[in-house]
Amino acid sequence: MTMNENWVTVAQLSDLAPGEVKGVEHGGKQIALYNVEGKICATDNICTHAFAMLSDGWLDGDVIECPLHAGRFEVCTGKALGPPVDTDIQTYPVRVVGDDIQVQVG
Ligand code: FES
Repeated sequence: MTMNENWVTVAQLSDLAPGEVKGVEHGGKQIALYNVEGKICATDNICTHAFAMLSDGWLDGDVIECPLHAGRFEVCTGKALGPPVDTDIQTYPVRVVGDDIQVQVG
């Protein structure tokens, strides 16, 4: 991983096709990356409800469904979409430089 002013390269765009979600780790932080029809978004990977990895869930458009209790979040805003999840998930700024997907984790 390469660091530059808090922007960290965490994955390659060519490894994340539209409609896919992928889990990465940086500095002990679990981050989920989503390709929403070409727009890349990033959130914490661990659900705000209990311990489950959102990257093991199902991405439908810009909504991820948690694999454990089917809680849903908007992946670009982090908004929790209703029970059982009532706490939004943290999002991270994302940029794409060449084939690098970079997140700002500072
Ligand atoms: S752990 Fe995600 S909805 Fe319960």
